[in-house]
Formats: sequence, C-alpha cells, structure tokens
Amino acid sequence: MHPLQCVLRAQRCLRRGPLASVSWLLLRTCRAHSSVPSSECPSPERQQEDGVWKDFSSRLATGPTFQDFLRSASVPPEQPSSSEVEDPPPYLTVDELLGRQRRVYLETYGCQMNVNDTEIAWSILQKSGYLRTSDLQEADVILLVTCSIREKAEQTIWNRLHQLKPLKSKRLRSRVPLRIGILGCMAERLKEEILNREKMVDILAGPDAYRDLPRLLAVAESGQQAANVLLSLDETYADVMPVQTSPSATSAFVSIMRGCDNMCSYCIVPFTRGRERSRPVASILEEVRKLSEQGLKEVTLLGQNVNSFRDNSEVQFNNAVSTNLSRGFSTNYKAKQGGLRFAHLLDQVSRIDPEMRIRFTSPHPKDFPDEVLQLIHERDNICKQIHLPAQSGSSRVLEAMRRGYSREAYVELIQHIRESIPGVSLSSDFIAGFCGETEEDHLQTVSLLREVRYNIGFLFAYSMRQKTRAYHRLKDDIPEEVKLRRLEELITVFREEATKANKSFVGCTQLVLVEGPSKRSATDLCGRNDGNLKVIFADVEMEDATDSGLRVRAQPGDYVLVKITSASSQTLKGHVLCKTTLKDSTAYC
Ligand code: 5AD
Ligand code: SF4
Repeated sequence: MHPLQCVLRAQRCLRRGPLASVSWLLLRTCRAHSSVPSSECPSPERQQEDGVWKDFSSRLATGPTFQDFLRSASVPPEQPSSSEVEDPPPYLTVDELLGRQRRVYLETYGCQMNVNDTEIAWSILQKSGYLRTSDLQEADVILLVTCSIREKAEQTIWNRLHQLKPLKSKRLRSRVPLRIGILGCMAERLKEEILNREKMVDILAGPDAYRDLPRLLAVAESGQQAANVLLSLDETYADVMPVQTSPSATSAFVSIMRGCDNMCSYCIVPFTRGRERSRPVASILEEVRKLSEQGLKEVTLLGQNVNSFRDNSEVQFNNAVSTNLSRGFSTNYKAKQGGLRFAHLLDQVSRIDPEMRIRFTSPHPKDFPDEVLQLIHERDNICKQIHLPAQSGSSRVLEAMRRGYSREAYVELIQHIRESIPGVSLSSDFIAGFCGETEEDHLQTVSLLREVRYNIGFLFAYSMRQKTRAYHRLKDDIPEEVKLRRLEELITVFREEATKANKSFVGCTQLVLVEGPSKRSATDLCGRNDGNLKVIFADVEMEDATDSGLRVRAQPGDYVLVKITSASSQTLKGHVLCKTTLKDSTAYC
C-alpha cells in the first residue's frame, strides 16, 4: 500500500477509534486491517459497545496532533528479503539484534499451519543467534504460537499465561529477565487486549511478522512491550527454510500459500492471517527437494485453500481463461485469472522423489478440476486421500455460512471424486449449532455423515468470533447445551460410519509408512496408510523385500506391508509382512 494511503487510513482509524497511548501500535494495527477486505477499522458501534468510544472527542481535542503522531510513529520498514542486509533501526545496535545465545522455548497450539509457522519462526531466530531449548526452566524466551479459531483455543492460551506468570516473577536476579511472547493468530486478533491485560507479555508477532522477531525481542530486552501485527499482501516466507523440529521425523509440512479470501461467515482466519497469497512454485520445489535429500518420506502441502493455489510470479503469459470451479460451486470473491495452478504444482512436487508421499491440506471443495483428480489417481506417490470440509449437510445453513455450494452440489462432487479415484479416503470438518441451525438442519448433517461415510472427521461446536460476518449479521442463537448435544450426536454417527468404512480394510494389505513406537505399547510400532489412517502392528522381525529377503526390524521412514486384522473408528491393527518400497508395492485386498 502507498504510505500516504496508510497514513490516511491511520487518520481515519484515529478519528474513529480510541487514542491509544502506543500510537505506533495503532498505526500498525490499522495497516494490518487494511489488507483485509471489509474490516478496515472496527466499526464505531462495536467500539461503543466495548466502552472505548466514550470520551473520544475530548481526548481527540487534547491529544497529540496528527503530525505528532506521524513523528512518533515507527512505521515498520518494508520487509527485506533475508538476502538483503538491513541496517539496524537507529535505536538498536547490531549486537542487540543478536540472540546472544539466549534460549528459546517454543510451544505450538492449533493447526498444522502453526506447526509450520513455529519452524519458520525458529529458523529466523536461529539465524539471529538464539538457541533452542525444550526445557521450560532453562528458557530465556518463551514463545507461544497461538490459535484463534474458537474461543476454547484462546482460553487455553490465557490459562497457559497464568501458569507461566510465576516463572517470570520468581526469576533469579542473576539470570537475564525472562521474556514471553505471543505469536500467530491470537496476537493478530487481540493485539492491545493482550498487552493491556497481560503485562507479563513482552512481545506480540502476527502471522506475517516473524521476520521481525529479532527486533521485537531486542526492544523487549530494554523492558518495553513490542508488537508487530502488520499483515502483508505478499509475505510467504518463501526464502525461509523451516527447521525440522524433530530430527527423526519421517514427514514435514511445506507451506505453499498463506491467508484466505473465502470469508466463510463464521471464520476468523481471513482476519488473522490476511489475504490469500501463493508461494512461488520454484521455492516450494526447492524445499521439497531438500527434504527429500534429508531422507524425509512424506510432505504435506499446507495452506488454508491449497487447491486455490495460484503462483503469478513466474508466468509471462497471463492466461485469461477464468478458473474452472467444481460444478455447482461459487466464490465470495471476484474470479481470479492466470498463474500456475495447483495441478501444475502437485505434478511437479510428486516428480521430485517417487519414494516420497505427497499429501495436501486443507483444500476447499470449490477448486477440484478434473485434472487434479486425474493426477491424484495416476500418480502412485500422491496419497488417495482428500479432505473435503463440508461444515454442514443443510443447504440453508451452507448459504448462511457463505460456503458457495449446496448439499446437492457437495454430494455430486463426492460421487465424482469417488468415480475418479477409486478407493479414495475422505475426511471432513463439520460445525454443530451454527446461527439459526434448526433440528431439521442438524438432521441433514447427520444424514450427510451417513451418506458419505467419511474415514476421518473433525467436528466442532460453533464458536462465535468477533469481526466475522456471522458476528455482525447473524445471531448466535443456539444454546450451548444444544450445540454440545448436537456435536455429541454428530460424533457418535461419525464414529459408527467410520468404523464401518475402516472395517472394510480387514483382510486387506496396506502400505504403511512407519513413524515409530506406538504411544500405547512399547512392543508395537505405529505408521500411516495411504489414506492417513493410523496403523498399529507388532515390532517383530520381517523379510526385507528390498534386500534379497534379509530379516530386519522396521525403522521410522520404512515402507512396510501390513495385513489388517481389526479396525476401529480411528485405527487399523495388523501384522507386518515385509519391508518394501512405495514404487514396488501397492495395497491390495
Ligand atoms: N466455530 C467452530 N468451528 C470453526 N471452524 C472455523 N471457524 C469456526 C468457528 N467459528 C472449523 C471449521 C474449519 C476448521 C478448521 O475449524 O470446520 O474447517
Ligand atoms: Fe475459514 Fe472458510 Fe477460509 Fe477455511 S475457507 S480458512 S473456513 S474462511
């Protein structure tokens, strides 16, 4: 955005909003909002409700002028790419920007995007000279990577902060003061509230501000609170190679895009993670190649809407043909054109290493052109597993959710996917008790669960989120106990159906990527089949079909064939037959 525009928006925010004592934070906050459609600044009505509008006029009259504001505002510089050498800000020395061997303890909450964000944040801090610790007592810096998707997720963080408080107050004077930071969605959503409510929080960094962590921590060293909640239109951390947290891991997440433009009416994500933007294909391929060289056997391509991927950075010729949406699906935003699409990316990624499994999550049902389905069907190392978040089985509720499809269109897509990819494993997300959901709507969701018979499901009670369309336009009118009762019913039906679906594997042989010891029993190993179901089997000697019949024990990262003997709604059990490769074997019944 042009700096003047930012200034004008800041002015508008100032006119409408409270005069915060930390003016620079306001400016940043306002710029953060500016990248999200329809949420430039909080509405006056809402602010009035929150009690912050009251003495606004008098404060505006006696407060600093706009010029004062501009002078004191430290507008963050455009983020340099990591290859550029940036001069330290005038008030910080190069030495202060370095980690000086301070030990960082990172804790991750929420979705896989946050797992990946943790690795990105750590990669940035490591380069600045910080050390990592897994021992809370040893930490000089504690960073929580947070989630805002539901109220409960945020409550967990508030509780955690209370637990951490004594660590700060009882810190020995002989040690450097302990610093605590909130990263990710909650930092973005609650900004001032966190800084005001929890004085123990030293730094806040929104999902697009991780490059700024060394500076924020350096400012915090002097005892000040520091925050950057600026959302970006183009930050993808393309040049930051995430550091794998566990060296023995067999699989990794690779972020291919950030943000979301869908604006489903219940969802906070577009407001906390900003506009949708795709990472350049070349940098994704480079990361996957490196992971393959490190011996990893599985990558999951990650983003809020992976199949809406669109890399416009490389193409010269901007294909004017608009996007092919799945039949019966629409979008909440203006049709986008051109760029390298998901099918191209998936094709390229899957060619890097035929022994590497490729998964992706989360897609949106609207973007499933036939070429993507065909590719999944044809390519051995692309898992035949599709996450297809339905959210509800009622067309009326789907419309209120602004999902862009009806129940009928969704079911038709499921049938088409099943015809295109025989044996495909399906998973979904559902929300119970959305605004205005009647008993009849709820039963429609129950019947969709029965009709599709998903293998894996994620079910949630609706949690109203400020700023969303549902918050502004709809009424959160389903009593909590009704939401929970409906959720319980959905879980029961999901489990019954998943058990039936998973029982069909009994007697079949599944190709399993071994992850390591089972959590429940030291004598068992655990891995996943192509459909991402957990498979448990005894850790015994077996034939190594890749090495003329040698007798070996399975190791993490090995592919083994397992004959399935029993199944529940979440797990398969069986006995191991032999060690094999992905290329040389397929599952069979
Ligand atoms: N309340 C409950 N569940 C939600 N989800 C997203 N927003 C909300 C909300 N406000 C669920 C959706 C989404 C998943 C990641 O979280 O099912 O697909
Ligand atoms: Fe939220 Fe909808 Fe975007 Fe998913 S697609 S992140 S549910 S707005």
